[in-house]
Amino acid sequence: MSNQEQNKKNQQLDKFRVNDKGKALTTNQGLKMNEDEFSLKAGDRGPSLLEDFHLREKITHFDHERIPERVVHARGFAAHGEFEAYESLAPYTKADFLSEAGKKTPVFVRFSTVAGSRGSGDLARDVRGFATKFYTDEGNYDLVGNNIPVFFIQDGIKFPDLIHAVKPEPHNEIPQAASAHDTFWDFVANNQETAHMIMWHLSDRAIPRSFRMMEGFGVHTFRFVNEEGQAFFVKFHWKPVLGVHSVIWDEAQKLNGNDPDFQRRDLYDAIENGQYPEYELGLQIIKEEDEFNFDFDILDPTKIWPEEDVPVKIVGKMTLNQNVDNYFAETEQVAFHPGHVVPGIDFTNDPLLQARLFSYTDTQLIRLGGPNFHELPINRPVCPFHNNQRDGYGRQTINSGQVSYHKNSLADNTPTPVSEEEGGYKHYQEKVEGKKVRARSVSFEDHFTQAALFWNSMSDVEKQHIIDAFSFELGKCQEVAIREQVLDMFSNVNHDLVTGIAENLGLAVPKKKDINYTKSSPALSQANTKKKADT
Ligand code: HEM
Repeated sequence: MSNQEQNKKNQQLDKFRVNDKGKALTTNQGLKMNEDEFSLKAGDRGPSLLEDFHLREKITHFDHERIPERVVHARGFAAHGEFEAYESLAPYTKADFLSEAGKKTPVFVRFSTVAGSRGSGDLARDVRGFATKFYTDEGNYDLVGNNIPVFFIQDGIKFPDLIHAVKPEPHNEIPQAASAHDTFWDFVANNQETAHMIMWHLSDRAIPRSFRMMEGFGVHTFRFVNEEGQAFFVKFHWKPVLGVHSVIWDEAQKLNGNDPDFQRRDLYDAIENGQYPEYELGLQIIKEEDEFNFDFDILDPTKIWPEEDVPVKIVGKMTLNQNVDNYFAETEQVAFHPGHVVPGIDFTNDPLLQARLFSYTDTQLIRLGGPNFHELPINRPVCPFHNNQRDGYGRQTINSGQVSYHKNSLADNTPTPVSEEEGGYKHYQEKVEGKKVRARSVSFEDHFTQAALFWNSMSDVEKQHIIDAFSFELGKCQEVAIREQVLDMFSNVNHDLVTGIAENLGLAVPKKKDINYTKSSPALSQANTKKKADT
């Protein structure tokens, strides 16, 4: 075990940590064995016997060692650490772990790539997951983010389509690379809300030098609620203290070939050597009454909130200071969920976020084998948990008593809900009204303004890297018609960009479009005026 200060999570994990060193080998029933190399046979050269419980138990356990890899973000690497708040955020949120300067909270962070399988290479051009579990005194709070601040799609109902397009193609399971194939580009061309994210994905941001040098973003707009019940819109940022660094494509190719574990090794070694990775937590906060004062919809996950308009307030620091003891028990079995919140943090109506709130538990039920994965050591909150849920595969808790239902006269000690004052979570009472519709909000219709702003913010070298990345990745797309569709789509972003790609790929340069991105779109202004009137 590490010599780190014993925070609450460490103390809890200690109860589950086992050191086998120098111990007698036993079966799972605790029976000491005198032999572990030979099965029980009828005679030296005779058949193995069915009564060999040791052989059967050992093989059976081995046969069941693998669990399904995550349906996305399968390849990951994680570490323990601690978050320390710099100041009280009580004016904005009643979340206890943000309530006072110097307050420390144990964390577990898993970094990942999205598309590749568990055994894929680290240096893939891909989005990186940046998922943090805060073990707060009020329950687990999970900030399940990425290293890119926007997302490919605006509505979670398209997530299965996106992932089907990004993952290896179904007929031949090729390629591991997210964006170097036809289905990826076909999806992009036919779902143009991807434009902004694609610009980030083909920039140097998608090949980070190290997990230690990578930003993290909650992506969605969340909600803070303070003690007085006042609400704010909030976006979360992690800013690496070492700064943001990437490798160039050529380096990525070589590194992946030489050491496909380059990024996990880098994180592991840094922590072992005491060079603890640090990230500052930043918040962008918008007052509720300012919801419609922007020239984009603040709930649209394909949009950033420009930092010059909404500055990032730095509010704390996370330090990763301890590697896991066991990859499977911790990194593989950890179950993050954007729906794990604490009082003071709530959701918004972002339709991407809303779908995520369903997806994570659902997938974990199969990945982690039933409804009791919250009892696994890495997933347990550090505060007590009590309810009337019972039984199921792998149940560890031994609940006592006759009664396991709420509202009863038979027992006087079953768990009961508590008031907000006593720490009970109360959902923010947002007013919701409207017709049931299956449609995109008009305020989500502008797909190109921020993609163009991103391009304009790049240096010449960075622009060239983006052109090269488009040329390489789109060059792997066999269908010329799709390549042309993609060029046509990105001619809505910038003419130099598509000219560079077209020249590299030997395609006709699309006609220059008359684009003039002002900071406000008429459709959005109209939508905002209407929404303001409605509220
Ligand atoms: C992992 C679904 C969008 C970040 C996962 C997993 C699923 C999933 C099923 C695997 C979880 C597991 O097996 O434990 C979805 C759906 C989305 C969506 C349905 C859209 C509707 C996003 C977005 C982000 C994100 C927008 C970033 C803000 C992550 C991360 C992981 C993950 C970081 C890995 C968690 C870990 O390290 O274990 N997602 N996801 N996902 N997702 Fe999403």
